[in-house]
Amino acid sequence: MNDNTIVSVSVLSADFSCIREICSNIETSGAEWIHFDVMDGVFVDNLTFGCPVLKAIHKNSNLVKDVHLMISNPIKYVENFANSGADYITFHYESYSNPIDTIDKIHKCGKKAGISIKPNTPVLAIQDLIGLVDMVLIMTVEPGFGGQGFIFETLDKVNQVRNIIDTNNYHTLIEVDGGINLETSKLVRKAGTDVLVSGSYLFKQPSMKDAVKALKG
Ligand code: DX5
Ligand code: ZN
Repeated sequence: MNDNTIVSVSVLSADFSCIREICSNIETSGAEWIHFDVMDGVFVDNLTFGCPVLKAIHKNSNLVKDVHLMISNPIKYVENFANSGADYITFHYESYSNPIDTIDKIHKCGKKAGISIKPNTPVLAIQDLIGLVDMVLIMTVEPGFGGQGFIFETLDKVNQVRNIIDTNNYHTLIEVDGGINLETSKLVRKAGTDVLVSGSYLFKQPSMKDAVKALKG
């Protein structure tokens, strides 16, 4: 189990009437990363925000900006997100961009590359890409909405990716996203997760600081 679990706060559940306030709350919570869910209404059945909002967050926070692209042609937008303050750019294996070209493009922009799989996509699909990326994002809910219940069957995929990384001495991080709360955080940490994304759970707690500490164990 990783003793230095990173928490990436998903701003999908935040109240966007004051971006500066969101950023300062996250900064004082002890979370290291800000998770930014980009949805295009095509790859997933929801629309969220894009580069102008990321720029505003970047202006107000020095934390790592962890951009999760749930869009159908991610390679087309890599440069825009790289220039808007992204540190990690994660795209979906299931989207219509060639994964190797997309990873290369992210790296050429000087950013860390992540690849994500939906709950029904097996680890086998991305096995050969794990050594090429900086992070594997295992979706623990169907992408599209915050506040959904954790899909327990995805836990085994965390174990599988952990084994591949450890066996090959890769430096790739494992991130999980969806339905992370105090109970599920323990399970995914035990399975070998490095980065926990949490949105609705953290924004509902009276103290985000205490909740982040609890998620880290
Ligand atoms: C879902 C998003 C998640 C979402 C997580 O498609 O990728 O990042 O914000 O929200 P919670 O923590 O509420 O499941
Ligand atoms: Zn996400």
